[in-house]
Amino acid sequence: MLPGAQPRAIAARVLDAVLHRGRSLKAELATALPTLPDPRDRALVEAMCFAVLRQPLRYEAALEAWMPRALSRRDGELRALLFAGLAQLDPLQLPAHAALAATVEATRVLGRKHQAGLVNALLRRAQRDGLPATDPRHSHWPSWLRGLLRKQWPEHFDAILANSAIAPPMWLRVNAARVGREDYRAQLAEAGIQSMAPAAPAEALRLDAAVPVSTLPGFAEGVVSIQDLSAQLVADALSPAPGARVLDACAAPGGKSAHLLERDASLRLTALDIDAQRLQRVRSGLVRQGFEDRVELLAADAAELDAWWDGRPFDAVLLDAPCSATGIVRRQPDVVLHRRESDIAALTVLQARLLDALWHTVAPGGVLVYATCSILQEENEAQVRAFLARTPDARSEALDARYGHDREVGRQRLPGEDGGDGFFYARLRRSPPDGSAHPG
Ligand SMILES: C[S@@+](CC[C@H](N)C(=O)[O-])C[C@H]1O[C@@H](n2cnc3c(N)ncnc32)[C@H](O)[C@@H]1O
Repeated sequence: MLPGAQPRAIAARVLDAVLHRGRSLKAELATALPTLPDPRDRALVEAMCFAVLRQPLRYEAALEAWMPRALSRRDGELRALLFAGLAQLDPLQLPAHAALAATVEATRVLGRKHQAGLVNALLRRAQRDGLPATDPRHSHWPSWLRGLLRKQWPEHFDAILANSAIAPPMWLRVNAARVGREDYRAQLAEAGIQSMAPAAPAEALRLDAAVPVSTLPGFAEGVVSIQDLSAQLVADALSPAPGARVLDACAAPGGKSAHLLERDASLRLTALDIDAQRLQRVRSGLVRQGFEDRVELLAADAAELDAWWDGRPFDAVLLDAPCSATGIVRRQPDVVLHRRESDIAALTVLQARLLDALWHTVAPGGVLVYATCSILQEENEAQVRAFLARTPDARSEALDARYGHDREVGRQRLPGEDGGDGFFYARLRRSPPDGSAHPG
């Protein structure tokens, strides 16, 4: 068997499950990838799956144009293999000869040897003619979601869809406790990895091209982490004072907790998440960085205060809320395949419940930062406006920031702006005990 056939067959199985059987990409990859011993094969499977799911209609259009009859429902795996084959040519631009041969061979691995000729013919056509042009107005995003976005972001709608279909740049967060950003940038350059440093946040570096994490100097020792620009800006939005008691209420997998500690070792941090398994990822991240003794980790529903809170207030609370993830479709492309309109209503109820409960844990005069990776206004500014309307001792504070879009409350970055994910941030101040205005 050709060595590249196995990863192609595995990509086809994963894509078949995600595209045709409503399965989650993350869950399918978690099962499939460990079966491949070579990390390059695992990376290839991921690259093919992400490329296909970011713009499945491009590949569908090619099959429609080139096949005399639509594939039957029984041929879901074949369709997925063809998509993976096409994605290798565009956008992945793998050497065509080897990619085609291995994809054709993958039909055997899938028990579809009789379809090898068809795969060969279609991929050769793609290699010769390129993919047919598609109408940019066609999108695999569900119509209810497109309708919402068109209404809420009329001038940005096309850019949101276009940017969500492109692979994100690789962003690093340099561990400020260990090394300065410019020093680390020089180490990268020595290793042949070029990067640029944005004005904010102070620890972010954007790589000119993605590299395997194992090639990053000091990655295993916690000198650097992978985190999108927009996620890193949450630490700026919260900016707790030295020694503050801080709650990260939806902490897993732990990127923002780690960032806060890297910036300031004097923080007294509690990291909470409802999902005990995901909380293990927080723990292992903290171990990698040597922070495990400095954080209280709790598995609980943040809204059930009786279950986890001892009544001692926090100076700063971060609510990085569960959300539609509509701002990170380029990272989780199956989000738009699986999201239902009813999910949004359920999420806004959950977010409001978390906001209301966690507000009790904020010390008078303290702050709560509400953040999401959503670009839907009902999860973001409308959510916060409704909270302010029913919470007399809360007021919104302007963020010291220039990125994204300044909203009536909070700030919104849309996907791809400055290379970052779509993200929303609002900073809420609780009135001090005597009701006097906060000085700063
Ligand atoms: C957007 S993610 C948080 C990402 C995290 N802050 C980071 O930077 O790595 C949302 C998290 O909220 C958690 N979650 C959902 N409902 C929750 C609840 N009721 N109480 C606490 N955590 C919850 C989920 O398990 C998930 O880990």
